[in-house]
Amino acid sequence: MRTIIEPFKIKMIEPIKMTTRQQRQAILQKAGYNPFLILAEDVLIDLLTDSGTSAMSSEQWAAMMRGDESYAGAKSFVRFESVVKSLTDLRHIIPTHQGRAAERILFSAIGGPGTVIPSNTHFDTTRANIEHSGATATDLIDPRNTDPVVKGDFKGNMDVPALERLIERVGSDRIPLVMMTITNNATGGQPVSMGNLKAVHQVCQRHGIPMFIDAARFAENAWFIKQREPGYGQCSLAEIAHEAFSLAQGVTMSCKKDALVNIGGFLALNDDDLAMKCRSALILTEGFPTYGGLAGRDLEAIAQGLVEILDEDYMHYRIRSVEFLGERLLQAGVPIFEPPGGHAIYLDARRFLPHIPPQRFPGQALMAELYIEGGVRTCEIGSVMFGRYDPDGKFVGAANELVRLAIPRRVYTQSHIEYVVEVVVGVFERREAIRGLKFEYEAPVLRHFMSTFAPE
Ligand code: F0G
Repeated sequence: MRTIIEPFKIKMIEPIKMTTRQQRQAILQKAGYNPFLILAEDVLIDLLTDSGTSAMSSEQWAAMMRGDESYAGAKSFVRFESVVKSLTDLRHIIPTHQGRAAERILFSAIGGPGTVIPSNTHFDTTRANIEHSGATATDLIDPRNTDPVVKGDFKGNMDVPALERLIERVGSDRIPLVMMTITNNATGGQPVSMGNLKAVHQVCQRHGIPMFIDAARFAENAWFIKQREPGYGQCSLAEIAHEAFSLAQGVTMSCKKDALVNIGGFLALNDDDLAMKCRSALILTEGFPTYGGLAGRDLEAIAQGLVEILDEDYMHYRIRSVEFLGERLLQAGVPIFEPPGGHAIYLDARRFLPHIPPQRFPGQALMAELYIEGGVRTCEIGSVMFGRYDPDGKFVGAANELVRLAIPRRVYTQSHIEYVVEVVVGVFERREAIRGLKFEYEAPVLRHFMSTFAPE
């Protein structure tokens, strides 16, 4: 196979400040071994998130210049609405400032005490917004799919028999909707098959429950369906996306991922009454229904981004580049969540640093070493984020100890990816000498953002 080339040229660059290992050691120590507390300027390759970090195209910047900033009924809204409508075939298109705003508005309208919202796996903000409304958020993923070493083409799928059992147990009247997250960010960035979407849709239809899609990475998911699911090899990404959305009665989307923009989101619905309720809630905190907390220029950039994301040359490069990173790490013996996800590679810190117990945070320790080794910033998804204490005050570790290397879209080149491989392998070679971390300051909530650590 030939070298993966980026199907774009670079017209504007943003310098990266180079640092030495010694400087990084001092920076990390000052930040309490928490890369969230490091300034972006001190990072060489920032893999903290793929959200809102995309590079926009010349066409997106040109569209921004055409932004119509009228308060009501702006031309930019009309363009945005028409692109989202033709993609989703849903009637009501409600812009929001990002994905979680769409979630908050939706669940404040239809969640509430006594209701249950199942998903293949909810993303954290979706779960938090559901729980904030008083409802219960339930993940219905087959436990085999959360095992990092189990192979599978569609490890993001929902466990359909578990959905049927849940409906039987709680009753369909208490389930206002079923949410399908594509791709499944909280489960290794793994895709969901069309077969699974159809099966869930059928169960929902039988029980009169609407199926919704969290479409943050819908185009990456469509690419996996095209590559892996029989019958879809000849379909375009647009056709596959269209078929997936045709099964949904509603969509929430963080446009900060697969719409290739730095800010934005939307809620799309068919139900007229629900749309009316959501628009009223929108006006309260986001803005008038034709801008929803965004500038006209943002709506233009989203409309253009949603067209560009379905370009197959782009998506081929995108997914291949992430897969290449995963392959190289596996070749060097580095344990990762397999197979590689769409937007990220997740290192398995439990197997990477088997001598560090959960209460000494192997993921956090690995994240710190990746920064020291090469200035690469990543995100721990393990016992710092999800660990808790039982009623006796005993620490209970998270189900998995992962470190996410999320790849921003169109930002880093193939040589940056090769550099990341070298950095991870460099840390892997000296893994036995790496020690765990203990809390210096333990933040009472959202520990991963604000806590500081010290070597044990
Ligand atoms: N849904 C999914 C699947 C997500 O991954 C995210 C955000 C959201 C909803 C919320 O969207 O950030 O626009 O409010 N994920 C980011 C991440 C933060 O790093 O994975 P938002």
